[in-house]
Amino acid sequence: MWSEARNIPDGSTASTGPASRRPGSRPTFAEVDLSAIAHNVGCVRAVAGAAQVYAVVKADAYGHGLTPVASCLEANGVNGICVALVEEGFALRAAQIEIPILVLNGVYGQDHAEVLRAGLTPIVYELAQAEAFARAAGGRTVGIHLKVDTGMARLGVPLAELPSVLEGLALLPQVRIEGLMTHLASADSDPEMTREQLERFAGAERLVRAAGHAPRFVHSANSAGTYTVNSAGTHNLVRVGIALYGVPPLPGIAPDLRPAMRVRSQIIALRELPAGASVGYNATFRTARKSRIATVAIGYGDGLLRAAGNRGSMLVRGVRCPIVGSVSMDLTSLDVTEMPAASVGDDVVVLGRQGTAEIPARELGEASGTIPYEVLTNLSARVPRLHI
Ligand SMILES: Cc1ncc(COP(=O)(O)O)c(C=O)c1O
Repeated sequence: MWSEARNIPDGSTASTGPASRRPGSRPTFAEVDLSAIAHNVGCVRAVAGAAQVYAVVKADAYGHGLTPVASCLEANGVNGICVALVEEGFALRAAQIEIPILVLNGVYGQDHAEVLRAGLTPIVYELAQAEAFARAAGGRTVGIHLKVDTGMARLGVPLAELPSVLEGLALLPQVRIEGLMTHLASADSDPEMTREQLERFAGAERLVRAAGHAPRFVHSANSAGTYTVNSAGTHNLVRVGIALYGVPPLPGIAPDLRPAMRVRSQIIALRELPAGASVGYNATFRTARKSRIATVAIGYGDGLLRAAGNRGSMLVRGVRCPIVGSVSMDLTSLDVTEMPAASVGDDVVVLGRQGTAEIPARELGEASGTIPYEVLTNLSARVPRLHI
């Protein structure tokens, strides 16, 4: 965390702050507003009702920084954390995170004993995984979450195999099904498919309970599912990622969420070009008029997708300016012809708010042919994160 972040001038005006106040010599960085994440926990909790809220922090907390975000989430009362990788779970325990941590991907290599020592809760979708944990348990009871596949066809015990997995589990008294889970494929887009998945999941739950298990937690919802399905109290735990970072899981809902990330850079060069001049690699843009073209210190090496070339926009002095030409590895060109006052050193907002204008992750995603998730997780390690 760079506490000097508080001294950085707001991006709504041209930067007057010296570059030394920024986290690197290059004026490109991502601000992560932990108070927005804290606020979003409250929004999600209000929708989730009585369900426990588990925060998904895989992939470096969707690019926001694993340990500062997890500490913030824990301090703001989430009930648990979901990671994809065992290593992410170990890193959180090393950072003194104490709440339950679920390992979503269920790939444990040889680390079963280590996973148990670190107090991580494994997700199991194959009997062999449960057997390995039973061996590593050394006489203790191991609580697992059993994942069933109800239509995602990715991870999870296929429903047809559930009876035989339950028979196998009956021979492993050390392994207790603490949670039963599935993952919804289209909670943001297809209510009918979601309904079918939930029906199959209810069938799986009946089988599991009939086999004598009493899972304390039953869960299916990601952010979209939390807002569209679980708000009715379907299950008693939700696994929420994108909403906690302030991105509505589907357009037009959850207007109270506050985006946590703002990506900022600066104009580092500016030129006047005559009509007919080309800009950038392969001359994919030609000026149609006498133009002012600004060079911004961010490129695809930072995670701004190249597909945003000639499609996306950035904010300068609170005004949306089009990206022109191809995005290069470290630099991107903006057409600031409409902004005679634009100058070298002006703050540029690539993602987030500047004054009253905003580039939401969904818009940048659409301009880049992708989804908000990829916009956030694609931000590369060379962009310093400034937690404020
Ligand atoms: C199994 C599982 N649950 C929950 C989530 C959280 O999804 P979202 O970010 O849409 O809330 C993910 C993320 O991809 C996931 O893989």
